[in-house]
Amino acid sequence: MQAGHASATSSLVAMARAIFDKAPRTYSATHDPIAMKLIPRRMAQWTTALQKAWNVPALGYPALKLISLGLFEQVALRTAAIDSVAIMAAQSGIKQLVILGAGLDARAYRLKGIEQTTVYELDHPATQQYKKRKTQDVAPLVREHHFVAIDFAHDRLLARLEDAGFVSGERTLWLMEGVSMYLPRPAMEDTVAQVQAASAPGSRFAITYFPPLAGVFGIAPVRITLRRIMERMKEPFLGIIATSDLHRLLAAHDFSIATDEYPPDWARRYTPAVNPKTVLGLERLVVAEKQ
Ligand SMILES: C[S@@+](CC[C@H](N)C(=O)[O-])C[C@H]1O[C@@H](n2cnc3c(N)ncnc32)[C@H](O)[C@@H]1O
Repeated sequence: MQAGHASATSSLVAMARAIFDKAPRTYSATHDPIAMKLIPRRMAQWTTALQKAWNVPALGYPALKLISLGLFEQVALRTAAIDSVAIMAAQSGIKQLVILGAGLDARAYRLKGIEQTTVYELDHPATQQYKKRKTQDVAPLVREHHFVAIDFAHDRLLARLEDAGFVSGERTLWLMEGVSMYLPRPAMEDTVAQVQAASAPGSRFAITYFPPLAGVFGIAPVRITLRRIMERMKEPFLGIIATSDLHRLLAAHDFSIATDEYPPDWARRYTPAVNPKTVLGLERLVVAEKQ
């Protein structure tokens, strides 16, 4: 990653959110009006063109699905699911939100319901420099907002967070969205251990993850092509993890599993007019609570 540039995958995720921000309610429950502002200039033109697909939703929806192999819709659904996790945590009195690998996540600027929360955004310094520049004229809507530069593979999470004002005795929502698949196993285990050490009982940990690739992505040529694309983007998949394996890892660190869902579950909840069987189900979301 280059200084002053966002990670390529964080830009793609923001692009998906910007496209689905313009979708009619039938196809999306995601609202991210900030996403368009965060997208690198070279991608903005494409995004504007793809947003036009919603002018004729009955054609645009399947076309967007085809172009992105279902990935844009998956991101939109996961955004809605995680928004709901964040709002429920705030309603239960949790006042600290730590976003691990925040990328171009705009919740601190847009998500109504978390206004009383202090948000810590953790990411590589390169992505953060870019995001700071892009958000210069947007005010966060949360109580406090801090950028904390980190590399999960090398840095100590708690020390960095405490320097920024984090209180480890207070309940926290930890959010790791679209990140675990880029972390080698030792970095993932170490991050979970550090989150355990920094979490008061009743804290929550929401992690999206890729179990071994299945369906169309499990077919060897598709799987290999996808891996090559990720390698070219310099963000290879290093952290594919089975559901039972991740649940064991969390249980070993005092987190009990509350829910574990995937995009068809979110489609049933948020876009009931869409057939859940047609929704890509690659990425799962586990939510666990610290004992
Ligand atoms: C696919 S993006 C997801 C961003 C954001 N969570 C979202 O859903 O919009 C992955 C993010 O993880 C960050 N990341 C990956 N590996 C990391 C590491 N070792 N240390 C810090 N950040 C990392 C990248 O910089 C990038 O912003």
